[in-house]
Amino acid sequence: MRGFFFLFITSFSFLITISTSTDTLTSSQIFRTNQTLESSNGTFVLGFIPGTNSNIYLAIWYKNINPRTIVWVANRDNPLQNNSNNDGFLKISDNGNIVLLLNSSTQSDNNRNLVWSSNQTTVTKNQVVLQLLDNGNLVLREKNVNDPTKYLWQSFDFPTDTLLPSMNMGWNFDKKTEQYLTSWKITGENPSTGDYSFKIDYHGLPEIFLRNDETIIYRSGPWNGERFSGVPKMEPGTDSIVFNFSLNEHGVNYSFYIENRSIFSRLVVDSSGVLQRRTWVESSKTWTTFWYAPKDQCDNYKECGPYSVCDTNANPVCVCVKGFSPKNEQAWKLRDGSDGCVRNTNLDCESDKFYHMENVKLPETSSVFVNMTMGIDECGDLCHRNCSCTGYAYVTTDGSGCVMWFGVLFDIRSYSDGGQDLFVRLAASDIDNSGSTSGSQKKNHKAEIIGITISAVVIILGLGFIFCKRRKFLSKLNRNTDNRGSLQRSRDLLMNEVVVTSKRGGSSGKRDMDDLELPMFDFKIITMATNNFIEANKLGEGGFGIVYRGRLIEGQEIAVKRLSKTSGQGLEEFKNEVKLIARLQHRNLVRLLGCCIDKDEKLLVYEYMENRSLDSILFHKARKPLLDWNTRYDIICGIARGLHYLHHDSRLRIIHRDLKTSNILLDSEMNPKISDFGIARIFGQNQTEANTLRVVGTYGYMSPEYAMDGNFSVKSDVFSFGVLVLEIISGKKNRGFCYTNDDMNLLKNAWTQWREGTALKLIDSSIGDSYAQSEVLRCIHVGLLCVQERAEDRPTMPSVLLMLSSETALMPEPRSPGFSLGGRSMNPPETDSSSSKQDETWSVNQVTVTLLDAR
Ligand SMILES: *[C@@H]1O[C@H](CO)[C@@H](O)[C@H](O)[C@H]1NC(C)=O
Ligand SMILES: *[C@@H]1O[C@H](CO)[C@@H](O)[C@H](O)[C@H]1NC(C)=O
Ligand SMILES: *[C@@H]1O[C@H](CO)[C@@H](O)[C@H](O)[C@H]1NC(C)=O
Ligand SMILES: *[C@@H]1O[C@H](CO)[C@@H](O)[C@H](O)[C@H]1NC(C)=O
Ligand SMILES: *[C@@H]1O[C@H](CO)[C@@H](O)[C@H](O)[C@H]1NC(C)=O
Ligand SMILES: *[C@@H]1O[C@H](CO)[C@@H](O)[C@H](O)[C@H]1NC(C)=O
Ligand SMILES: *[C@@H]1O[C@H](CO)[C@@H](O)[C@H](O)[C@H]1NC(C)=O
Ligand SMILES: *[C@@H]1O[C@H](CO)[C@@H](O)[C@H](O)[C@H]1NC(C)=O
Ligand SMILES: *[C@@H]1O[C@H](CO)[C@@H](O)[C@H](O)[C@H]1NC(C)=O
Ligand SMILES: *[C@@H]1O[C@H](CO)[C@@H](O)[C@H](O)[C@H]1NC(C)=O
Repeated sequence: MRGFFFLFITSFSFLITISTSTDTLTSSQIFRTNQTLESSNGTFVLGFIPGTNSNIYLAIWYKNINPRTIVWVANRDNPLQNNSNNDGFLKISDNGNIVLLLNSSTQSDNNRNLVWSSNQTTVTKNQVVLQLLDNGNLVLREKNVNDPTKYLWQSFDFPTDTLLPSMNMGWNFDKKTEQYLTSWKITGENPSTGDYSFKIDYHGLPEIFLRNDETIIYRSGPWNGERFSGVPKMEPGTDSIVFNFSLNEHGVNYSFYIENRSIFSRLVVDSSGVLQRRTWVESSKTWTTFWYAPKDQCDNYKECGPYSVCDTNANPVCVCVKGFSPKNEQAWKLRDGSDGCVRNTNLDCESDKFYHMENVKLPETSSVFVNMTMGIDECGDLCHRNCSCTGYAYVTTDGSGCVMWFGVLFDIRSYSDGGQDLFVRLAASDIDNSGSTSGSQKKNHKAEIIGITISAVVIILGLGFIFCKRRKFLSKLNRNTDNRGSLQRSRDLLMNEVVVTSKRGGSSGKRDMDDLELPMFDFKIITMATNNFIEANKLGEGGFGIVYRGRLIEGQEIAVKRLSKTSGQGLEEFKNEVKLIARLQHRNLVRLLGCCIDKDEKLLVYEYMENRSLDSILFHKARKPLLDWNTRYDIICGIARGLHYLHHDSRLRIIHRDLKTSNILLDSEMNPKISDFGIARIFGQNQTEANTLRVVGTYGYMSPEYAMDGNFSVKSDVFSFGVLVLEIISGKKNRGFCYTNDDMNLLKNAWTQWREGTALKLIDSSIGDSYAQSEVLRCIHVGLLCVQERAEDRPTMPSVLLMLSSETALMPEPRSPGFSLGGRSMNPPETDSSSSKQDETWSVNQVTVTLLDAR
């Protein structure tokens, strides 16, 4: 009896020591996976969080913010398993480290496996405690020492994907240690180390690079004393974030502070590679993105090559620096600015002058010469005297500090305001007197010496900080098709308004508080908008689901794709994928407005297209006269531009895999928009690899290698594009491989006529006589090249664009297209309901055929 009582007492006191929720763990305590530590003022919590595959991780999150927002993870690449034994725990080890252990019951001798350790090496005889501070820092310190410089270890030295106020990122040159951000594998789901990092490079003039593995995708520009040169919107505002960038012989740091403890703000790199500053807005209980990068095409690293400037308001966006011309004229016209520009006149050294550029993000500064104490006049003189100096700038906005470039200048972009001044060396003859200076600066700069430390304070923020500027769209193309010469049209063809931002136009009552979150629609709203998905609202059906027309309460018309339930994707993956795809914006792609997830239901919400799909007009006897030749030509070119964007211009290379007339939608002005792009991505990676067991596509549009072997590539899309072109010209459907009859096999017919020199016979009789023969022939020629049997004989989309736009482009002679399959016969189910007379087919929904294991 006494024994029992004693036992009760001990176990009771044991329980008390471990279950009190404080901010501190002492060396005699054990912290189990069901426990938490809370910082003194209740701002942050340390505990375990679930990940994928019943993994659990030690993490820190905001206590009072819902949904749980995690700011730090300890064992991101060494998860514990959440099992019934509950055998993982945290404790302070005998050598003064904080360790995560697994008390493996499967092994004998009480074998404890080390899962994660703070790995600090300071030896101390004093008692060590672990404390969660109210700023989110988890620190290991000697019990009676509360000096921040004497912490044995702190989580702030090991950031994950989040930079919190008063947390540093940068380098300590003395200890050769670095702090940087790395994205999660899947934000919100899988905290293990992802592909994207945000790191300071201290070489030359330090700046911060966002990388995807080793590839740089964005850089901040150097610090100009007030802000990063590439973040012109870091400006004084109404709120109180203080930015601090410091550089000295001991290291380089970037951090920010917020005086007001009730404002929560963080800088985070998400798993899709977007860097964002997010601030909690209590009134709406959401995180708002105040700033993000890369935010437009010109933020993409080296979007334009050497000596060219990326200007989002220009078209194309790459513009040569004054005194330079495109290195590769043809690529330049095709909007590929990566080769950059070359000098018009070689430098002479003595007589060279400097061209003054304003409001630019300085060229990359990793291999520059920097003297922080030199004034700008001296800087200009020095650069002028040294013949290999290609340009210079001052480092800070008050005109002190000198930076000189000795090689090519690249990754320059311009801003309408903000940015810095840059002086580029040019031969005197390439400069006219306006806007130029010769070595010395006119402005009256205070050449004050500020010491090696640049340490500056910028008060910024407020909602205005954001960059709310709407991108200026180019004025609409002149639609007066009748008297437009083909030259004008060629020019239009190259006017390809690429808009790579995550901004969504359309401003109806959707939740777009946050620019980066994909608007999520409520299932009830969609049900209402589509009248409970009634048959009458059905617009079409494809392999990925049924499309319904709908109208939101605010009146906006939408098209809703209800995805079939076979997508093997998890919810977060699905959302991530949709977010990426929503960021692809181009005038020839249907815009994704948002998505909706409800239990098993996954819906995509698109803008509604007044003229529905191309097939509903092209193959409809009464309506096809709406499509005169100019309109058809514009449609062909528009599709080509959209596909070019998917294949080559966008951040994601997307192979459409199901390009066909019913996936080409037409707006009120008959502008073509490709739909269903990216759906293949959503439907699981196993299907988007170079070979697939599951052939998704539509007979008549599938390239031979894809239909027969499941091989696909951009060239299989090019094949489908070729079929589209021939269909648009002829107004006839391609029936696929199985028809040997010329009338039914469009490709065979086109080839026969081409060979016999009677190609113009192909043209749809409803077009009449008003067409430019050369244009029609060129389109047929391009169409035939695109449907060549061998993928390598087909052109890529950049060549297609060039051939379509240029009267003089060299075009190879086509050979026999890939319509005959040499004995390999297929029996596709003919799903088209009205296949009796090809000219009267009126079908929105030519069903996508899905073949399992076509091999
Ligand atoms: C946590 O788990 C341990 C071991 O499974 C259990 O003894 C304890 O009661 C739990 N504590 C809480 C607060 O749930
Ligand atoms: C905790 O809150 C009190 C009162 O609001 C404040 O005085 C104190 O500075 C806060 N402590 C920390 C660490 O933020
Ligand atoms: C572990 O699993 C249990 C039971 O499924 C659950 O209640 C608990 O929240 C999980 N722990 C974590 C950290 O997810
Ligand atoms: C570790 O496992 C042993 C045997 O299962 C058990 O007696 C011991 O209490 C466990 N220790 C901890 C800290 O969970
Ligand atoms: C601790 O150090 C060991 C050996 O150097 C290393 O394998 C381990 O990854 C380190 N752990 C952490 C969390 O840094
Ligand atoms: C900026 O950082 C430096 C070095 O870390 C520090 O001395 C200075 O006080 C900081 N400035 C502000 C405004 O916090
Ligand atoms: C960077 O921050 C660390 C930690 O706060 C500090 O020890 C170091 O002196 C700072 N370095 C510079 C160059 O400000
Ligand atoms: C701190 O911020 C909160 C929320 O924005 C605001 O209500 C409060 O007045 C601020 N306090 C100070 C001292 O500025
Ligand atoms: C930087 O410029 C100053 C002023 O011209 C000069 O005295 C100093 O030697 C220069 N420092 C270096 C490292 O070139
Ligand atoms: C020009 O500057 C480069 C780099 O600083 C240096 O290596 C070279 O010697 C300089 N040339 C002259 C003529 O001063």
